Amino acid sequence: MSLPKFAFFKGKIVPYSEARIGVLTHTLNYGTGAFGGLRGYWNSEAEELYVFRPRDHFRRFLNSAKLLCMNLPYGEEDLTLATLDLVRRENHRTDCYIRPLAYFGDETIGVRLHNLHAEVSIVSLPFGSYVPNEEDLHATISSWRRVDDNVIPARGKIAGSYVNSALAKTDAQRSGYDEAIVLNENGHVSEGSAENFYLIRGGVAITPPITENILEGITRWTMMVLLRDEIGVEVVERPIDRSEVYLAEEAFFCGTGVQMAAITRVDHRPIGTGKMGPITARLRKLYFDVVRGRVPKYLHWCAPVYRALEAAAPQVRSLP
Ligand SMILES: Cc1ncc(COP(=O)(O)O)c(C=O)c1O
Repeated sequence: MSLPKFAFFKGKIVPYSEARIGVLTHTLNYGTGAFGGLRGYWNSEAEELYVFRPRDHFRRFLNSAKLLCMNLPYGEEDLTLATLDLVRRENHRTDCYIRPLAYFGDETIGVRLHNLHAEVSIVSLPFGSYVPNEEDLHATISSWRRVDDNVIPARGKIAGSYVNSALAKTDAQRSGYDEAIVLNENGHVSEGSAENFYLIRGGVAITPPITENILEGITRWTMMVLLRDEIGVEVVERPIDRSEVYLAEEAFFCGTGVQMAAITRVDHRPIGTGKMGPITARLRKLYFDVVRGRVPKYLHWCAPVYRALEAAAPQVRSLP
């Protein structure tokens, strides 16, 4: 993986090599950070790079930081503009991944969330697929349980809780599976290691509600809209038992990183026919058209990087 050329760091864009923190940094030691993950999609016909739903991602990012009692001097719009500036400076003409991080920059000893100073960094780098076989994943039900809201709130993207995700992912992959499906303490499906989960049963799309210890995923909401309004499939948010997964007609993961990946086997049991199902296939195609800015109805979700200056000229301002 090649490193970014620039970073948004301490309020301005600097060469990546200058965005450095010390080993005593609070978040590095205690996991007291919140992060985000956005994608930019290159549209070759329009010669434009579209960042997908940046304001929604930054709203969640700021909420994750709020759970950590961070006071940040930026709003959604500031972070969106900083990101578009940064991506433009990188001059990507390919798909990319954007990683904002809110962290306590204090170099100090002491576990707490108060009397600390929060900072934000953002980087962007070229990025392709997160999983190699997006059309044919073999998942396993993990023996690790998802962190509970009263342990570390899973609805926020909190750095420390990704140890839970990493344990599940590594054990799944070392056992020969592609990805883990993680249950919560009630034994219900929460999500994958870094993606939300849907199954189709009786022609209805079912996904766990946000009270089941899941990340409040932007792609999950996107799929909900596309399923209901474009594919004509009813979406139900309700707890999902483990054994329902084995009986599903179709199942898929969704998230910014994984995009939309069909789950065709779980614990060696075929899901439906054992091949990507028709609803998943239609939704997947539509999703990629939407994120690449090819569906006019959803173009408002796609923030143009290179045309942003012309389009929003009077409002565009750089952060200090
Ligand atoms: C644990 C977890 N669940 C779900 C998702 C999907 O969220 P989003 O669609 O906002 O990227 C992610 C992140 O990508 C995640 O880390």
